Amino acid sequence: MTPQEVSQLIRNRRSIYPKLYSGEPVPDEIVEEMLENANWAPTHRLTEPWRFVVHNGEGIKRLATWQSELYKEVATAKGNFEQDKYDKLANKPMMASHIIAIGMVRDPKESLPEIEEVEAVAAAVQNMYLTATAHGVGCYWGSGGVTYMEEAAEHFGFDKLLGFMYCGMPRIDWPTSRRKPIADKVKWER
Ligand SMILES: Cc1cc2nc3c(=O)[nH]c(=O)nc-3n(C[C@H](O)[C@H](O)[C@H](O)COP(=O)(O)O)c2cc1C
Repeated sequence: MTPQEVSQLIRNRRSIYPKLYSGEPVPDEIVEEMLENANWAPTHRLTEPWRFVVHNGEGIKRLATWQSELYKEVATAKGNFEQDKYDKLANKPMMASHIIAIGMVRDPKESLPEIEEVEAVAAAVQNMYLTATAHGVGCYWGSGGVTYMEEAAEHFGFDKLLGFMYCGMPRIDWPTSRRKPIADKVKWER
């Protein structure tokens, strides 16, 4: 791959949302390659803090039931239950081919600050995103719903749940995005 092709892959990487999936399954082999590449993210002191739980088929249905019921329980106790949110948590997962719960497990020796473990997981997710893009597979990192509920991280055996990677074959042309110029975010000291 040329440097130009690498740049093109990085800039073409997009978040593609479940409502834009065709319903066609993503081959498990591509999901496995996404996970293998996630495993090659940078990791300070080689703590390798990323953990993933892959759902598909009946696993997606169980995930949908579990997360909508967890939301109902927690929101009802707080007195802010919304039926729309419940319905979204119960129905949106069904649009995806695979849903990967993204987790962080800390080094038991706590040899580095927690933020560095989270950073390493984010780098692993970027590797998944790029691999999906290379295959023309749509994916998106969602961090809404139950993501930051303590019970949710516990359910998966993670120290932190960082969200869900939805995957599906896009039924649209590959989307474009926009960024403000990098020059606005960089200062060179020469
Ligand atoms: C940590 C993280 C969490 C995200 N959570 C959500 C989310 O909950 N809902 C959502 O619509 N997009 C979410 N996104 C995706 C962003 O909306 C998306 O990256 C942004 O719109 C830029 O689009 P692009 O990824 O196609 O370049 C998340 C992205 C990151 C990095």
